[in-house]
Amino acid sequence: MRYFEDLTPSTGTREPRAWLKSSRPRLSLNGRWQFKLWETVPDGPPRPDGWGELEVPGHWVLQGHDRPRYTNTAFPFPIDPPYTPDANPTGDHFRWFDLPDDWPADGAVLRFEGVDSCFKVWVNGVEAGTAKGSRLPSEFTVGHLLRPGRNSLAVRVHQWSSGSYLEDQDMWWLPGIFRDVTLLARPLIDDVFVHASYDHLTGSGILRVETAPDAVVRVPELGIVAEAGVPVTVPVVEPWSAELPRLYDATVEVPGETVELRIGFRTVAMVDGVFTANGQPLFFRGVNRHEHDERRGRAMTVEAMREDVVLMKQHNINAVRTAHYPPHPAFLDLCDELGLWVIDECDIETHGFIYTDWRGNPADDPAWAPMMLDRMRRMVERDKNHPSVVIWSLANESHRGRNFGELAAWTRERDPGRAVFYERDRTYEFSDFYSLMYPPLEDLEAIGTRTEDVPDETAEHPELEARRRALPFILAEYAHAMGNGPGGLADYQRILERYPRLQGGFLWEWIDHGLLLPGATDHVYGGDFGEKLHGANFCIDGLLFPNRTPSPGLPEYKKVLEPVRLAGPNPLVVHNHRTFSGVDDLEFLWSLTEDGVEVDAGRLEVPAVGPGESTEIRLPAQASALSAPSSLERVLTVRAVLAKDEAWATAGHEVAWAQFVLDSPVVPGVAVGPVVDGGEVVRVGGGVFDRRTGRLVRLFGQRVDGPAVDLWRAPTDNDNGQGGRNGVTQEWRAAGLDRLVHRVDGFDVMGDELVVRARVAPEGLGVGVRATYRWSGEDELRLTVDVEPEGEWGGTAVTPRCGSWPRVGVRLVLPRVLENVRWYGRGPGEAYADSREAARIGLYTRTVDELQTPYVVPQENGARVDVRWAELTDAEGKGLRVTGAPHFQLTARRSTTEDLEAARHRSDLTPRDHIYLNLDLAQTGLGSASCGPAATSDHVLDVASYSFTLHLRPVPPRDPGTEAD
Ligand code: GAL
Repeated sequence: MRYFEDLTPSTGTREPRAWLKSSRPRLSLNGRWQFKLWETVPDGPPRPDGWGELEVPGHWVLQGHDRPRYTNTAFPFPIDPPYTPDANPTGDHFRWFDLPDDWPADGAVLRFEGVDSCFKVWVNGVEAGTAKGSRLPSEFTVGHLLRPGRNSLAVRVHQWSSGSYLEDQDMWWLPGIFRDVTLLARPLIDDVFVHASYDHLTGSGILRVETAPDAVVRVPELGIVAEAGVPVTVPVVEPWSAELPRLYDATVEVPGETVELRIGFRTVAMVDGVFTANGQPLFFRGVNRHEHDERRGRAMTVEAMREDVVLMKQHNINAVRTAHYPPHPAFLDLCDELGLWVIDECDIETHGFIYTDWRGNPADDPAWAPMMLDRMRRMVERDKNHPSVVIWSLANESHRGRNFGELAAWTRERDPGRAVFYERDRTYEFSDFYSLMYPPLEDLEAIGTRTEDVPDETAEHPELEARRRALPFILAEYAHAMGNGPGGLADYQRILERYPRLQGGFLWEWIDHGLLLPGATDHVYGGDFGEKLHGANFCIDGLLFPNRTPSPGLPEYKKVLEPVRLAGPNPLVVHNHRTFSGVDDLEFLWSLTEDGVEVDAGRLEVPAVGPGESTEIRLPAQASALSAPSSLERVLTVRAVLAKDEAWATAGHEVAWAQFVLDSPVVPGVAVGPVVDGGEVVRVGGGVFDRRTGRLVRLFGQRVDGPAVDLWRAPTDNDNGQGGRNGVTQEWRAAGLDRLVHRVDGFDVMGDELVVRARVAPEGLGVGVRATYRWSGEDELRLTVDVEPEGEWGGTAVTPRCGSWPRVGVRLVLPRVLENVRWYGRGPGEAYADSREAARIGLYTRTVDELQTPYVVPQENGARVDVRWAELTDAEGKGLRVTGAPHFQLTARRSTTEDLEAARHRSDLTPRDHIYLNLDLAQTGLGSASCGPAATSDHVLDVASYSFTLHLRPVPPRDPGTEAD
């Protein structure tokens, strides 16, 4: 059998061990290599001759050779384990390197941090070994193959191997040597296993370092000089936690080699069914993180890794699940240093076996146990010294399988100091946690109260069921951040925080996997190459856009996760939701605004508030007392910001905030004048109406068209549901909301009012809405819109039911010059009914282009909510002001909803010559039905009668002397 298809994990490799920073010589072999791609596996060893070049670490499919491929669950080859197809792209890599003159003569090790998916190595033409396990290190003993001076290194990488059957994670298939390659002088210290525990009752720590027998362990700061393997008690030590990531520099030394370590003292334990760290229950505010870079794929730079950790910390995230494989080891160093709890997940997912109904699933076939155990060992051994890693995850979505019993047993024996996790075996026999993905809120609530249904898998096994029911729960994945969304984060958080059994969750997922191929401007996703089998844009589901800028879901998550909560206004209650630290690192600031303009501000004295505690503070009189009545809205904002620089943010960085509307003034009315009937056109206030269409054609001297009742939006991924199932778009389309036709039924001057009656209804169906527009005004305009559904929205024997609308409001077409938007309402970012926690009341200015959220796949976006008033003006400051009574939602763009709906990539959107302004009373929330539940009923816009009023006023040109704001 060919080595890339057999079930041998590797040949010629050394025992797995920790990733160590050693003083012994090392030579990086990253850089330009010679490269040749074969369509199938070639015979004989690589012979470089007229080859091209390639950057290592890197994936050849992102460097102009072949193409990347994205599937969600399906294997992109026939399921016939352990065999591969003939078309097995194979990349031959070759380079020369010079061995330094002072290289030690006692041997060398060649280390690969990650090669996808199987490879063979030759040093100076002699085979050194083979390995599989893409996201895991492999080391080969090569000293005997080296010669002084110039040496050659050849690596043959196969895209497909038996290992691929264990690597069916929902992500791009990206072959290549995608992590570092290093030549190491033979280690004298082969391995180090740090055991550093913390006793929260006494405040002491115990350090024991398993390593080379004659090694000396030193921790200068603690005055420790110890022998290997001998426990040392430290009477007083500062523990490590994600909140206070205290590390101690240490060394392990033998003659000729020093290894540098950073040690964190901490103890995790399961206490009465609760997972604790240093004696306290842990609560994960987590994300699932894939390694992704828009140009480099999984060949991450350390800078990008640091950016990830810093962004997580800045957004109140305290935990990361390394979905679904061990990350580059430098990422875990950053988690230790900056403070994140980590679930380290093994490189195992056999998801594609759903298409054989799990027949042949490697997880349940003993023949595959060595391959699986090899992966577990390589992960645990590599990452065992990281205080941040508190849970070992056996795999993702690989069904139930007896091999997991072996993996769990080995892991517990090797490292009793951590917990073991596996979500997809519904008995949870091998897991220390109960866990699910994407449950609806009711199910989560039932789990919190331990009243969840018995899973089929344990129904016949009372002991297993009793064990399962006693386990703490981790929400492994939830809140699918695909496209515009997720909605409902605040609802999830409320439940997660209510029940001690629920120890937090990990949102899916950190970053969109959109790829930018050389020379391209649009991000690609599945199907962009004409592949028949692909996962479309299901991997564009992150809190970051592919270029690592936050998508609106991230500030929303940050707000929902706030570790300090403020309630009030007076007294102001400060509740500390942290586990280990007080609030003395924070400064509390208040600010009073009138229609968004600050009129007073100050600092609050907040006494010490211990973890889990709260305190009440009286606000200074000027922050809350209202002296004179105002026609402006007064809002008090309180913010908790970092008092001094931290490693992950500078002083002033905001951690938490709250706003309180102190008084809401009445919206002033509009003066009413006569309606001037001029035959074909009718004038009301500053508007001119066309009798034929019933529409406003000129407004304060500008050409406009509308406003017309609008019920449609460009469906979001979450509207569409998963693979076209369980979404609302289907229901909305079936009711014809995407093909509404307008007809004017009445155009009547009634006293000082122009009343336009219209019917808005879909082609081909009998349902519709009656819309009545009532116009009045003198210089300004007042519009009241009544919308009333008619017909069988509830469905008939032959037409489906439609229970909700995407939006209810009006659409108005404006000249393109009115592109400067200033509004007083929530912002600065977009917001929707179930994703509006992060939007705060303020005065904001953006251009129409800046109001767009650049989702990789165009869809509804950019709505600003609770808008009290908004101005759209031209370069001279001239334009129009809209005031809502009540507040309205504002969306403005250069493309129509229909353009947005039709576009598959951003470059499909060509700006039109107009601005399309939607003024809505409401929109349906977002939900996360692209994988999970839809918006809950309280965030859905029911089919019902609605009424709303808007005031339109002209904005005069700016005095030329004043600056635009
Ligand atoms: C989960 C899976 C993830 C991802 C997610 C949806 O079931 O573990 O890898 O596919 O669904 O994006």
